[in-house]
Amino acid sequence: MERKGWQDAIIYQIYLRSFKDSNNDGIGDFKGLISKLDYLSDLGVNAIWVSPHYESPMDDNGYDISNFFEVSKDYGTLNDVKKFINLAHQKDMKVIFDLVLNHTSDEHEWFKAAKNPVHVDHHKYHDYYIWQKPKYDKDGDRQMPTQWRSWFGGGVWEYNEPTDEYYLHIFSKKMPDLNWRNSNMKRDLKDVAKWWINLGVDGFRVDASNHLEKNWDFPEGHPGYEHFSSLPKHHEYLEEFGIEIFHPNNVMAMGEAGGATKEEALKYCGFDNNEFDLLIHFGHVWADCDDSNHLTPGKWSKGNIDLNHIKKSFNRWFRMLNGDGWNLIYWHNHDHPRVISHYGNDSVYHTESGKMLAYSLYFMPGTPIIYQGEEIGMTNVDYKDLNDFRDVEVYTEYKNFLSFGATHEVAMQALRNRSRDNARSPFQWNNDVHSGFSKVTPWMNINENYSQINLKNQINDKNSIFSTYKELIRMRKEDNINDGILEFIDIDNKDTFVYVNETPTAKFLVLSNFYSKKIIFDLNIDIEDYENILYNYKEKELTNKMKLLPYEALVYKKRNRVMK
Ligand code: GLC
Ligand code: CA
Repeated sequence: MERKGWQDAIIYQIYLRSFKDSNNDGIGDFKGLISKLDYLSDLGVNAIWVSPHYESPMDDNGYDISNFFEVSKDYGTLNDVKKFINLAHQKDMKVIFDLVLNHTSDEHEWFKAAKNPVHVDHHKYHDYYIWQKPKYDKDGDRQMPTQWRSWFGGGVWEYNEPTDEYYLHIFSKKMPDLNWRNSNMKRDLKDVAKWWINLGVDGFRVDASNHLEKNWDFPEGHPGYEHFSSLPKHHEYLEEFGIEIFHPNNVMAMGEAGGATKEEALKYCGFDNNEFDLLIHFGHVWADCDDSNHLTPGKWSKGNIDLNHIKKSFNRWFRMLNGDGWNLIYWHNHDHPRVISHYGNDSVYHTESGKMLAYSLYFMPGTPIIYQGEEIGMTNVDYKDLNDFRDVEVYTEYKNFLSFGATHEVAMQALRNRSRDNARSPFQWNNDVHSGFSKVTPWMNINENYSQINLKNQINDKNSIFSTYKELIRMRKEDNINDGILEFIDIDNKDTFVYVNETPTAKFLVLSNFYSKKIIFDLNIDIEDYENILYNYKEKELTNKMKLLPYEALVYKKRNRVMK
């Protein structure tokens, strides 16, 4: 099989709003990103995924698009974008843009026409969205068509008086869902993608891709996620898009979908499929929920880490795709807490656990995505006030928590631990005022720990988390780590995280402790010829009985006897 560029990619995810502000309005932008291209190239990444940069009222930081062909004024001009693409290409970095196909903003021209019966284009655009007539209860009071719940915490239906209908929004009410059964709508979205491809984009990350189809019988359900998630027909839509747009233009496509079976995984990113090349799934992301917590339920309740769950997810995805498709690995993105606060220890063992997490992930096969700030161990933010949060989801969920009986402080703690805003605070470049991100107060608070945790402090320190990331990226390239075969050792052991990755040129053995206690375990493998190449405490000889200190991690390497 012909080898594809994305199989060698090391992707870096940019959350544009918080990466680098060039014009001192407190918001990250393309010129800021351009000014940091040398930084990214020096780090060693060769692909950049940029969060949505399109015109938007920013209800969901740009995932609510009001014009697919315009660049948000917050981020710059089309010329800036072109310049960014050209400069990235000159530095041998691919450009991946976010493509939002599930919904638009309610301020998009299509929706303005759709909701307004006297608009000249009403009939053209009404069916671009999903409408239902109200239901009435026995007292004659208007009711939503169903009790389905949105991903952001409220109902999925919003009433539109002029048409006496509800529209569907599985995210915020300012993000009406598009109707993928409408072929004109699909044609228009394909034109959007083509337009950006013509500008020189190398790939897309397709947002919310398993939600495109809905159950049009609108059966009752609470929360009812099964009626708008992973329905079989969404694969048809994605395949159509792939065949018509991504494949003929040689554009990489990376989907986003949770909860896939093996059959689905192969549809999404099997080598023979026509949908995507890579898939962002969430198998390992919420492995520490406390299911007994009813005040801040689901992902919002932090419990003990279930290490087996994490190992099994990485293992499962590797095995489902092994040889038949290409795997993708990452710790977290802009929708999750910072990994060092989530699965590491951001206070007592900041550097140790930051390195441990890096070794644990980045010796695995597959194409990696590093999220901005992860490479310097940025942590969750200690938001003091509800108004410090920016994420639209926070405000609906806060109300829910209080209605479940949580106190303000309990609700705040859940938000502090789990909200998406943790990953979205401005990049900590140095210890100047506003962390070198901007010269003015940024659009959201900078983490107070920026004077200790920042790039400047780490860039020349060979023992820093940053230097570890740089070294791991170099090693990934040198020994084709993306291409290896993953094998967990004693995967059922609740204490340990141990695996071997055999690449075409070397064999790596990684041993990690995810706990703040010591762990002791037997290593029943052939330990000959392994050399300790990385450690976050001290060099250690490999023995059949290993003792690891809190968050200790060790990487050993064995050269393959037969070199390719
Ligand atoms: C995806 C994005 C998330 C966004 C949602 C709606 O999950 O990653 O940030 O809120 O889709 O577009
Ligand atoms: Ca700016």
